Amino acid sequence: MNLRQFLRADLADLKAYHVDQPPHRAKLDANESPFDLPPEIRQELSEEIARLPFQRYPDGTSDLLRTQLSERLGVDKAELVVGNGSDELIGNFMLAFGRSDACASFPIPTFSMYGILAQIARLKAVGLPLNAQFDLDADEWMSHLDTNRTNLVFISYPNNPTGNNFSAEVIHRMLSRPDTLVLLDEAYYEFSGQTFIEGRDRYPNLIITRTFSKAYGLAGLRIGYLIARPEITHEINKVRLPYNLNRFSQVAATCLLKHHDRFRQYIRLILSERERVFNALDAMGGVHPFPTDANFILFRTDGSAPKVFQRLLENGVLVRNLDRPGPLQNCLRVTIGTPEENDMFLEGLED
Ligand SMILES: Cc1ncc(COP(=O)(O)O)c(C=O)c1O
Repeated sequence: MNLRQFLRADLADLKAYHVDQPPHRAKLDANESPFDLPPEIRQELSEEIARLPFQRYPDGTSDLLRTQLSERLGVDKAELVVGNGSDELIGNFMLAFGRSDACASFPIPTFSMYGILAQIARLKAVGLPLNAQFDLDADEWMSHLDTNRTNLVFISYPNNPTGNNFSAEVIHRMLSRPDTLVLLDEAYYEFSGQTFIEGRDRYPNLIITRTFSKAYGLAGLRIGYLIARPEITHEINKVRLPYNLNRFSQVAATCLLKHHDRFRQYIRLILSERERVFNALDAMGGVHPFPTDANFILFRTDGSAPKVFQRLLENGVLVRNLDRPGPLQNCLRVTIGTPEENDMFLEGLED
């Protein structure tokens, strides 16, 4: 049998998602939280987990978690879908709304999964370069959207990997278009404090995704949520796999929401460390940080970024090497870690 005759030609150039994890002491490459769960929450969670019936399927609608989220966010439960990471929900949105005449558009550079998921969903995908300030070019976007009958737009707000929030005005213009659905990915919202959540009443075409992987430190449990009008969540639920969020993750996220205030301390610490690291980078010769609204900083090196990356790794610090021809030439991205990890990073860089 020749497997080739069964393969999808449009996936021939797709590579399985892989991130290198060379040995390191400080992991500052994936925008995770540096803080694991506080011991008292871990204890409470262990007790709850000990009572779970593992042989039973979980609640397929994640009702309790959605109830808690709806109270915290002030949105209706029908406006919420939870998923196995926000990645899954972005993919589900594409499956539900990826008509054959739809065009998926996103800025470049941005979160790589938009392009990958669009390819998997057989969507026509177009990347529009950001301007020199890493912002959206309003005219270019509007004339691009004019060329399609059905637009799906993916905006990381703040943007990964550049770190900045785009001008809200351009996003409002996109949201004002009846031919466009806008998915605003607010994975880093807790660090930026800026959201479009209040726009739900005004814009029926607004979809917001968020995650427990960043500020809440639950990347290992894969929990994300999506907020949109019930007409939209209804369609997404059609393509969502049964029981997509496991029992363990549902309980963990519900438990964390009860201790929401505890995480504010972590967020405050990350924000003050972000300022410290940014100022240190700004004052250092040979590196140029870009302003950020997230829990990471993109910076350009005067010398070769891959060499700097390697040297940091020799010092035990793993960052993300984003160097490639174009706007990210000689760019690295560092996640804000604990004060000790950030010191290691800054000392390694000085070195
Ligand atoms: C912009 C953006 N959206 C979504 C995700 C993935 O989130 P999750 O862990 O909820 O799938 C990431 C992770 O790095 C991200 O940077």
